[in-house]
Amino acid sequence: MADTTLMDKLVSLCKRRGFVFQSSEIYGGLGSVWDYGPLGVELKKNVKDRWWRAMVHARDDIEGIDAAILMHPRVWEASGHVAGFTDPLVDCRHCKNRFRADDPRIKGTPGQPDAQCPVCGSKGTLTEPRLFNLMFKTFMGPVEEQAAVVYLRPETAQGIYVNYLNVLQSSRQRIPFGIAQIGKAFRNEITPGNFIFRTREFEQMEMQFFVKPGTDAEWFERWREWRMQWHRDLGLTPERLQWHQHGPDELAHYARAAFDIQYQFPFGWQEIEGIHNRGNFDLGRHQEYSGKKLEYFDQAANERYLPLIVETSAGADRVTLTLLVDAYREEEVEGETRVVLGLHPAVAPIKAGVFPLVKKDGMPELATALYHDLKRRFPAFYDDSGAIGRRYRRMDEAGTPFGITVDGETTAQRTVTVRERDSMQQERVSVDQVAEYVAERVGVS
Ligand code: GAP
Repeated sequence: MADTTLMDKLVSLCKRRGFVFQSSEIYGGLGSVWDYGPLGVELKKNVKDRWWRAMVHARDDIEGIDAAILMHPRVWEASGHVAGFTDPLVDCRHCKNRFRADDPRIKGTPGQPDAQCPVCGSKGTLTEPRLFNLMFKTFMGPVEEQAAVVYLRPETAQGIYVNYLNVLQSSRQRIPFGIAQIGKAFRNEITPGNFIFRTREFEQMEMQFFVKPGTDAEWFERWREWRMQWHRDLGLTPERLQWHQHGPDELAHYARAAFDIQYQFPFGWQEIEGIHNRGNFDLGRHQEYSGKKLEYFDQAANERYLPLIVETSAGADRVTLTLLVDAYREEEVEGETRVVLGLHPAVAPIKAGVFPLVKKDGMPELATALYHDLKRRFPAFYDDSGAIGRRYRRMDEAGTPFGITVDGETTAQRTVTVRERDSMQQERVSVDQVAEYVAERVGVS
């Protein structure tokens, strides 16, 4: 399957089955902003829940927080975002399109007569690059004036740094320890695209780990290993995951070292998570700009120091897209094309479909009762319309790992047929045990 076709097919399936819709579609859509539908919201929530379990619930040394999106404007001066969170932008004076100055489709040097616009093909119409800040600005209070400017946060990390002392003092943590957060971030990207890969509003799952100076390199390596394993455990094809180390020209202003976890998308190898050794940049800057001491006092060693930070920063939307891309496949079955989302059962939005074979002989009543019973333990779906084969196919496209059919033998023998999505193998299971059978296989206790 050609790679562009795969993305087109995936976007179309996401709309058809209710994973992802274009924002404000009835008004013509809003550029690179997407809404999650009934199945998409479950899939993304499962990703976030899995991250939260691994990073907060399963560990003793990480606390969670949920900071506000709006923060004091000085935060973004201290963080370096006001001065440095910029991309070089060029305009085409002819067709009015905008590009990043380093867009590989631009031929020649922007601002020079030889430069050619990649959209309209005009020569000499591209402006000199100018720096464009990616933060969205808005106004706090009723007056739209410079003094009231606040920003929509471009990363969740800063909400963690400014709460570092609050968490330290209110929890029983001692260094080394971490603070984790999941939340929305906003960037006025010049060239967003590739569906939900690069958008202007997205969700981050970030964790900042505070360590003693001198131990950062060791913690950085640990966190690299743990984070890569987390992605592997989502069932992603291992050969499609790799590391990319940032060279000196790629490193962000705050980073001493950085590695990206990349996935091989149809549009190339791209970052899904960054692991950064941020040193003492963030706490140092916030200490300087706020005038508040952010040092840690180590009672055992009787010493005072500014902790260093190892950050893990993943995009919830990017991980969701990765799962969808990795799961999508088409197969020939009995002369027909079967589209399957082979999602890991633990993240699949619906765990089981329940179908009465026919709409008579008490089957709908039995199937409905079973459906309500299952729904108490995990998301299930009831479908009694159309041929049974069609109903299986609809669930295959939704990534549902199990299909349960109530048939003629159910009343007499109190058994149902359970069909497994990937192998399409069928097994008879007792009605009384089918909830446990599915729960065990999808990892719900
Ligand atoms: N606090 C560090 C930080 O924000 P980043 O590499 O700019 O680092 C981290 O972003 C992660 O956030 C990326 O790996 C990606 O998964 C996600 N992300 C960043 N920009 C995004 C965008 N425009 N759309 C969707 N996800 C994005």
